[in-house]
Order: sequence, then C-alpha cells, then structure tokens
Amino acid sequence: MKNKRILLIIGGGIAAYKCLDLIRRLRERGAIVRVVMTGAAQQFITPLSVSALTNERVFTELFDLNDEREIGHIRLSREADAILVAPATADIIAKMAGGHANDLATSVLLASDKPPLIAPAMNPRMWLNPATQRNVARLKADGVRFVGPDQGEMAERGEAGPGRMSETPDLIAALSAMLGMGHSGPDASGPLSGKHVVITSGPTHEPIDPVRYIANRSSGKQGHAIAAAAQRAGARVTLISGPVTIPDPAGVDTWHIETASEMKAAVAGALPADIAVFCAAVADWRVDNENGQKIKKAKGAPPPALSLVANPDILKTVASLKSGRPRLVVGFAAETEKVLEHAQAKLKSKGCDLIVANDVSSATGVMGGDRNCVHLVTRDGVTSWPEMGKDEVAQKLVEELARLIETGVANQPSAAKSKSKAKARAGRGDAAKNARKKKVRK
Ligand code: PMT
Repeated sequence: MKNKRILLIIGGGIAAYKCLDLIRRLRERGAIVRVVMTGAAQQFITPLSVSALTNERVFTELFDLNDEREIGHIRLSREADAILVAPATADIIAKMAGGHANDLATSVLLASDKPPLIAPAMNPRMWLNPATQRNVARLKADGVRFVGPDQGEMAERGEAGPGRMSETPDLIAALSAMLGMGHSGPDASGPLSGKHVVITSGPTHEPIDPVRYIANRSSGKQGHAIAAAAQRAGARVTLISGPVTIPDPAGVDTWHIETASEMKAAVAGALPADIAVFCAAVADWRVDNENGQKIKKAKGAPPPALSLVANPDILKTVASLKSGRPRLVVGFAAETEKVLEHAQAKLKSKGCDLIVANDVSSATGVMGGDRNCVHLVTRDGVTSWPEMGKDEVAQKLVEELARLIETGVANQPSAAKSKSKAKARAGRGDAAKNARKKKVRK
C-alpha cells in the first residue's frame, strides 16, 4: 500500500464509523488517503475527525470554488490509484447505476477512469430488493467490483441478514487485490479471461425460530476452491455463499446469504453470467411457518411438529431460463448411494449441462473434509477422476469448464473416458454409420 493514493468516498450509513479505523489501517500501511463525504455521511461522522486521521482536508461540496480552483473533482478522481465507496448505500449504488452526478461523490465516480470498489451497507431487505440487485448487476456488468456485504445483525433491533459492511481487513484485502498487490488478481491472459462466473457454495440455514435452524454439513470448501480457481483463470467471479466459517477467497466478489430464498435472489441479481456452478448444499425444505419467538418447551406437551415446504430449486430455475441462461450451467449431485444413477437422473431433471457427482456418505468425509472424488456426468457419459484435494478438483474442473466453453461442446468432458462414455461414443458411431448407409442407399 506504500504511497498508493486511495480515494475513500464515505456514504451515509451507520457503518461510516468503521471508516475511521479503515483510514488508520490504510495509513499504517503507507497509503495516502483522501476522503469525499456525502451530506448524509456527515450525519454519522464529522469531517473534522476524518481530516484528523487522514491529515488531509476532506472534500464535501461539488460547487466549492476553492476546491474547484485547487483540485477539482476530475483531478480528485484521476489522481487516485483506487477508489473505495464505503459504506455504499442503496442510494449511491442506484445513482451510480443510473449515471447520476448531482453531488461531489457521484460526480467523482462518474468522472473516474477506473472502476471503483464498492462496499455496500444497508438493511437486508433493501439489499435483496430486486431494484438494488438490478443496480448491482448493472454495475458488475460495467466492471465495478464489490466487497461484501456481510451477513449478520443490523443496527436496527431484531434485523439480520446480508447487508453489513465488510470489516476493515476484508476491505484492505479487496483493495490490495484490486491494486494487484499481495493477492494474485485475475489473469488477463487466463483461459476464462473476460468471462463472468457465478458460483454458489456452502449450506443454507432455514430458520425454525429466532434461535434454531435446519442446516447441513457443507463447509463451503469445494465451492470456494472453485471460485478461487476461476478467479486465477482470469474470470470475474461472483461467489454466493451460505453461512460458512472459512474466509472469502481473495479478490472474489463474495455475497453472503443465509436461506435458500436469499440464495435464489442473490443468484438472480448476479446474472448475467457465462458460466454458473451450483456447488451449494441448498436445503430442499424450509419450515412452513417460521416462529417469530423462540418455541418454548411446555411441561408434558409433545415436541412441536415441523411442517416443511419445498425450497425453490435454484439450479433448475437457472438451467431452464428462456433468456439470459448462462452458456454453461453446472450442477453438483451429493449422493449416498447409486451415485451415478442418481446423478444421471439429476442431469435430466435439472436441465443442466454437466453434473459433478460426489459420494457424501459419512465414511467418505467429503462434506466438510479437504478431499473429494468426483464423476463428471453429461448426456454423453461419465468421466471419473481419482480422489484428490478439493483445490485440485477445483483447478481441474475450471480447466474443463474453460475447454467446454471454448469449444462450445458442453456435453463432452475430456480426460480419462469411462466405459459408459466409450459406449455412448460407440453409439454415436453406429448412428453415424447408419446415417451414411442410408445416404448411400438413397
Ligand atoms: O462444502 P463442502 O464441505 O466442501 O462439501 C462439498 C459438497 C459435498 C457440498 C459439494 O461437493 C456438493 O456435492 N454440492 C451439492 C450439494 C447438494 O445439495 O446436492 P443435491 O444433490 O442435493 O442438489 C443437486 C444440485 O441442485 C446442486 O447443484 C445444488 O446446489 C442444487 N440445488 C439443490 C436444491 C435447491 N433447492 N436448489 C439448488 O440449486
């Protein structure tokens, strides 16, 4: 960060207070921090405290003759090595998506010659609102990068979900990645360069009441490893993660959600994409009537009966999109018996191009563990890979996806051919021979 010029645009949200610590940490690393504050931001923290920490004057007005004479909003934006908007409110995001420039912050952003980094912070319902998700998708398509929001408790009592601004270390990691320092950034010559890949990972939690939920054993290790491998291959990656304890992959735009419904909304917001990989272990059911209060044990009463309803099938929804379907839709199949048989059935019922099947019986230790043994199932057959680390599975899978999207042949995995694949190819050979025979007869 030494001598890097960071322009921090502080929006009007309670998370603005986190910027004071962020400024200190950036300056400890040798960065030169300039700050623009919106009018609303000044309701939460004062320009005086920001100026004391940056050791610079703070910019607040678009029409300030002194500012314009001394530096001007164009220079303010061009002189920065990186621009971070934190907290980015729904309003700033909407203005950016619409190309507005009616105050200093939005004018600087519109005048910038480099895409900024956005750290959203808002109420979960505002974040998940289709209007916000549309604006986020628009900005992402324009090359704008996002860090967060994180999942958790809101300042408003009793509110929780995706919408917390990322913590200082995550903001610094994302800035470093953007500045090409400390983390390997997307490789412009990588096989997935220019592609947008959306990946789901981890479990979903389906609340029963405010303290209990239905969950599964997914750790997110496999999905996160695929996200990191796709990013290394040059892709712009949006990772939609359920509640996990592992860190977000560096340089990957990670959205945190809790329930299947939130995951579905987030996936819709992240599209369009060239490739979508559904590695998350989405709960198939949720409790029909989530209890607003903790369910109490009543003396002598039987345990409460849970009534379940089906969750939306995210993979199937995306695979059957009439318009905007990713060119390659990849599902996973987590099975405990008849792995290939069930995976083949899933390939059909979900309508995806490829199923990555794995045996998740407890003896395999795949769910939550570090190793995996997968089978790639397509309409043409099955390719089985030997057991390996989840990072290696991810690397090989990404290479395979790059090959499939390059050749446009989404249903013919390469590498070692299994018996069934050979059989399928033999079948195709017969069909071709018959067709040739017919032609000759004609
Ligand atoms: O997270 P780890 O500990 O590293 O473990 C990795 C893993 C075992 C979770 C992963 O490799 C895996 O198998 N993921 C898929 C888990 C799963 O839910 O499989 P399924 O067979 O129940 O679902 C089939 C497919 O439909 C999956 O792509 C799933 O993401 C998707 N799905 C399922 C239900 C639903 N409502 N919506 C979905 O999109």
